[in-house]
Amino acid sequence: MPEPITQTEYWNGDVGTRWADMQAELDRVFAPLTASLLDGAGLRPGERVLDIGCGCGETALLAAARTGPGGGVTALDVSRPMLARARTRPAAGAPIAWIEADAQTHPFAPEHDVALSRFGVMFFEESRAAFANIRRALRPGGRLVVLCWRALAENPWVSVPRAAVLSVVPEPPPSPPGGPGPFRFAEGGALVDLLGQAGFADAAVAPVDHPVEIGADAEAAARFSATVGPIAGLLREIEDPALRERALAALREAMPPTGPVRLGAACWLATAINPG
Ligand SMILES: C[S@@+](CC[C@H](N)C(=O)[O-])C[C@H]1O[C@@H](n2cnc3c(N)ncnc32)[C@H](O)[C@@H]1O
Repeated sequence: MPEPITQTEYWNGDVGTRWADMQAELDRVFAPLTASLLDGAGLRPGERVLDIGCGCGETALLAAARTGPGGGVTALDVSRPMLARARTRPAAGAPIAWIEADAQTHPFAPEHDVALSRFGVMFFEESRAAFANIRRALRPGGRLVVLCWRALAENPWVSVPRAAVLSVVPEPPPSPPGGPGPFRFAEGGALVDLLGQAGFADAAVAPVDHPVEIGADAEAAARFSATVGPIAGLLREIEDPALRERALAALREAMPPTGPVRLGAACWLATAINPG
């Protein structure tokens, strides 16, 4: 068996490039969820913010705008292509330091008021150590506010296209429990427990539910699903081009034939405080 690739390799390969190419589309699709994260973070002018797994920069840029010229944003990611995209985007407000580093081990100074993340905390190889390290980036009383996916079954924007692809190819074996992946914290209680073990106080999760528009029509929605996210991963595993074409056709057929494709998305907004 070949060694599984690391998350740093994963996000620096084809996946990172696709996310960078699809930045505008991804930010449009996730906009309602992003708004819930930013509202939950309650950023104030002058605050210092850490964006964990900032990707192509959307939440770092929004945090900079909200905290203003007196604030500061540290935007950290392991993905070079995604950071390269982020650095090209117009910024206003607080200065942003874009840092290529691993949130699990980066030697943070305890200078941040808020650590936030949009879908960046489910991919750690060592989650407890990672959250303990992120806690060290916060001043005493600083807050953690992160968004992560609830279960697959609660996320039709993934489960509908997934069922279509699995009507053509067999279901892959489940990934090992507790390993990195988008649904790592589907069980919100596991995240609350981990945050407590990492030294946070008052850890809690609250549900965030919004439909997301994954395409203006069936064709665009199928293209989105096939390019980024869990379905793109499933399609990548199909080696036979004819089978892959059948899976893509099934994906297109699963989308409503007319109008924009809006499907449900379900997240946890997890919050916690660094007691110091
Ligand atoms: C699903 S993407 C989300 C990106 C961005 N936050 C967004 O919402 O568009 C997950 C991000 O986490 C980053 N990531 C994964 N493991 C990381 C780690 N150990 N340290 C820093 N970033 C990491 C990936 O490179 C990727 O950019």
